[in-house]
Amino acid sequence: METNEFIYLDNAATSFPKPPEVLTGMNEKYARYGVSPGRGSYDLAVYAAELVWQTREKLARFFNAPDPNRVIFTANATDALNLAIQGLLQPGDHVVSTQLEHNSVLRPLYHLRERDGIAYDLVPFDEHGLVSPDDIVKAFKPKTKLVVISHASNVLGTVQPIKEIGCLCAEHGIPLLLDVAQSAGHIPINMLEWQVSAIAFTGHKALMGPAGIGGLIISPDLELQTTRFGGTGVDSLNLRHTQSYPHRLEAGTLNMPGIFGLSAALDYLEQNKTKMQQQKTQLTKLLYEGLREIKGIRLLSPEPKAESVPVLTCTVKDRDASVIGEILDGDYQIAVRTGLHCAPLVHKALRTAETGAVRFSPGPFNTQAQIKLAIRAMAEIAAML
Ligand code: ALA
Repeated sequence: METNEFIYLDNAATSFPKPPEVLTGMNEKYARYGVSPGRGSYDLAVYAAELVWQTREKLARFFNAPDPNRVIFTANATDALNLAIQGLLQPGDHVVSTQLEHNSVLRPLYHLRERDGIAYDLVPFDEHGLVSPDDIVKAFKPKTKLVVISHASNVLGTVQPIKEIGCLCAEHGIPLLLDVAQSAGHIPINMLEWQVSAIAFTGHKALMGPAGIGGLIISPDLELQTTRFGGTGVDSLNLRHTQSYPHRLEAGTLNMPGIFGLSAALDYLEQNKTKMQQQKTQLTKLLYEGLREIKGIRLLSPEPKAESVPVLTCTVKDRDASVIGEILDGDYQIAVRTGLHCAPLVHKALRTAETGAVRFSPGPFNTQAQIKLAIRAMAEIAAML
């Protein structure tokens, strides 16, 4: 099979291409209002601060979060998770998390275990790629101060029952930190209803925004220690970093192009979410059905459900996944992500840590024809190896 068309199926890493409306919205706003917000008292700086505030409000509405003041801009979800994990834990604390986590959770936890003697337990997942809420509760200890969990697995595409987990965490008085890097923009997220204490998100995946902007949204009953200090534009005589939100957790000049881009992306999503969701769901189903029929392919992702995110991961005859990725790229111009997807414990549990796996993640701009080409390519590769 010969194809000349470049087919991008790595949207779980970052959505690409970005909608032209997002790029245009970002550029226009940055060209007109790209001054430092909340510092100068001239009109333009005041208006730039107003645009930042409007983006906090949009995000609070998007996640049904109670207070836009507690929408903290960060570089990405990893940055937000670090801010929350390091701001919440004290030496000797215990954390419950899962084996589905990305290194953005596993590494901060490991670091704090080495440095501060925190302890943690990682709950396993079942054959459906799901964590049992009861297992989370069984892992609680008297010193458990945090549950941190990824909403959707970046390897399997499965989505955890957060409402149930949030209810159990609330009953036990333990804050729930939710990593929505892979779910925000695909499925609705309701912070208040699910009793989530903090949400870490990134703008550049399914939210369709640019890279370099993300955020941490925290509920009013959660207090985070400040772990970064610097200029905020308020209370400047005081050497103690301001404790009022959002400045408490934001030091230095904000990423204005990122905030403008994210704001435009949220508008774009609002207008197009139904159409985009249908397309992603159909393409993922088509891909799953195609890959399932190919001899030699082992699908690690379970059959997608209505609430799954568009991620399908597989191996081919136990071959090194990077070999498959190179053939897909070199011979078929198909871009996927191979390897361990920064989620090593998922691969250990599935016995794919040695080979890695091939991950397909369709986006809203892929077509059925492209998915059919990808299935044919995989059939040819599996037959050849
Ligand atoms: N965490 C991103 C991924 O899964 C980068 O590809």
